[in-house]
Parts: sequence; C-alpha cells; structure tokens
Amino acid sequence: MLKSYEQTSLHLSHRLRRNRKQEWSRNLVREHRLNAADLIWPLFIIEGENVRQPVASMPAVERYSIDQAVIEAEKAAQLSIPAIALFPYVSPSLRDTTGSEALKPNNLICRTISAIKKAVPDIGIICDVALDPYTSHGHDGLLDGEIVLNDETVALLVQQALLQAEAGADIIAPSDMMDGRVGAIRQGLDAQGFENVQIMSYAAKYASAFYGPFRDAIGTQTVLTGDKKTYQMDPANSDEAIRETAMDIDEGADMVMIKPGLPYLDIIRRIKDTFGMPTFAYQVSGEYAMIEAAARNGWIDGEKAMVESLIAFKRAGADGILTYYAPRIARMLKEGRL
Ligand code: PBG
Repeated sequence: MLKSYEQTSLHLSHRLRRNRKQEWSRNLVREHRLNAADLIWPLFIIEGENVRQPVASMPAVERYSIDQAVIEAEKAAQLSIPAIALFPYVSPSLRDTTGSEALKPNNLICRTISAIKKAVPDIGIICDVALDPYTSHGHDGLLDGEIVLNDETVALLVQQALLQAEAGADIIAPSDMMDGRVGAIRQGLDAQGFENVQIMSYAAKYASAFYGPFRDAIGTQTVLTGDKKTYQMDPANSDEAIRETAMDIDEGADMVMIKPGLPYLDIIRRIKDTFGMPTFAYQVSGEYAMIEAAARNGWIDGEKAMVESLIAFKRAGADGILTYYAPRIARMLKEGRL
C-alpha cells in the first residue's frame, strides 16, 4: 500500500503535461489560432428602412434593412472582418414558382450590394446564388412536378450571378447544388467581362437538418415542400464530397466550402488534404442555434463553446469560417480577450 503520493514515480521520458503547465507555455505550443481575417459574416437583409428584426430561432441575429446593413458592414470592416455574405428575406408577395424576382436588376439583394459597395468599398461582398429565397415552394431551382430541374435552373443561376456581379458582388457563391453550375457561371461571368469576380462554391453541401433556423430567417421554413435530398448531398457520404469538389474546381471554383461545419470536420480535412484549395467551413444556423440555446439555458458556457467550435474548424484544415459569431469573436480578438 502507498504511504504517500511522493513515493511513486513512473520515470517517464515524456510528460505531455509539462508543456501545459503554464498559460505562457500553452500559448507557445498552440498549433492553431483564430484571426479576424479568417471570418466571413452572413447577414440577413429585409426590405424597409431602419429595420432590425430579430430572428426567433437565432438569438442575437437580426434581419437588417439596407441602411442598417451598411452600418453593420462598416462595423465589420472596423473589426477587420474581410468579407460578409448576404442573404435576402424576400417578401412573400414577390415569390413565385420560377423565382422571377431573383432576375430583377433592382431587387433587394442587388440594391444591398451596391449600397454596401459604395459605403464600405474595402469589405468583400459574397452573394449566394440559388433560387430558394425567391420561389414560392422554397426549392433552390425550377420545379417540374416534384423534380428540381438541373440544366434549366443553371441557366437562371447564370443570370442571377451576372446581376449580382453587375451590382458589385466580389464573390459569387452558388449554394444550389445543381450539377455544372460553377462552369456555367464562370463562362457567363467571363463573357460579360467579369473575369475577376471570384467563385466560392458550396462544393460539399449536405441535405442537413441544421439549416432550419436559416430557413426561418429568410422565411422559407414554412413554404418548403418536401426536402432537398435530390440535389444536396447524403450525410452518409464522404467519397462523393471529393467528387463534388473536384468537379467544382475543374469548372473554375476559386475557393470551396463545406457545409454544415461541425458535423463534417472529417470532410473539411479530406478536402483540404486532397486539393490544397482555399477551403471554407460554414458553421450553419442550426449549429449556432444549438450553442445559443444550451447557453441560454445555462447548460453550457456559450462563449467557451463558441471559441472551441471555431478553433475546431482551423484544426480540421479550414482557411476560413462563415459564422454568425463573426462580429462577436472579432470583437473578442480586437479586445485581446482570446
Ligand atoms: C440556400 C442556403 C441555405 C443555407 C445557405 N444557403 C439553406 C438551404 O439550403 O436550405 C443555410 C445556411 C445556414 O443554415 O446557416 N441555398
């Protein structure tokens, strides 16, 4: 029987705890760090003036009218956030079966792009290409009965992307998961003199339950008929993510994205290792909502969970993260609280 703890020693040649003993030492050996330059902030835009409308399922997230979005973009730039991603809440009266509002040059998102570009020229503007905010059925493409048409949809997406580029979007981000859309958009942009507009493809986008709060934010949750499994990926697949990404890179994607984030860290790692492309993770609405809900119930420390979830993306190989936490984490970084 042991008389006291001091009497036993394992004579280990390695003690990993040595490096962890002090805060300065933990800092010194830290492999990954968060930086404001890694962040992309998704913003929801709504018609009106002076509007800041809370999103029920996403605590602290709001829909902004254009004037307020400009203010937020300015704040983001001051926090050194390099880019924002814009998503419209389209008035239900403007939605139809073909998503025709998406092709109106003066629509909400195009006006937002030009207003932000003018007021905050130094922040990158990323714009989603997909029809779901504009369709009365909530699908990302044209419907024929229950089938989402591929090639016909792609033709419209090219037009949508061109309008966004004309309005001043820096990065076009096709999130629709139609086959061949990256190549078609690239050709369309080049033909109109937009060869410098970048494409960030939602390369591996899964048919996920974690998009629920986003659909609440853009008002498609209640209108969506069925699911998106015929175009978004099966969560059970990994090799297929490689094929999806290879195709998008081949067609001209400048950057690739994996979505959702935390449940798909293995996919981020595989894609980064396989292609060595600029690789982004989207910490989606449901991931944000889960952390916030648990934190608001006092079940987890929300701030610590936020930081841990974000560093996990860096560890998995992501170069950057789309996250609703972008301004919060950027502020912490700026104030030296990380
Ligand atoms: C739409 C789109 C979705 C998201 C980004 N673009 C939802 C969907 O595919 O239904 C989800 C983002 C999030 O959940 O935060 N094409």
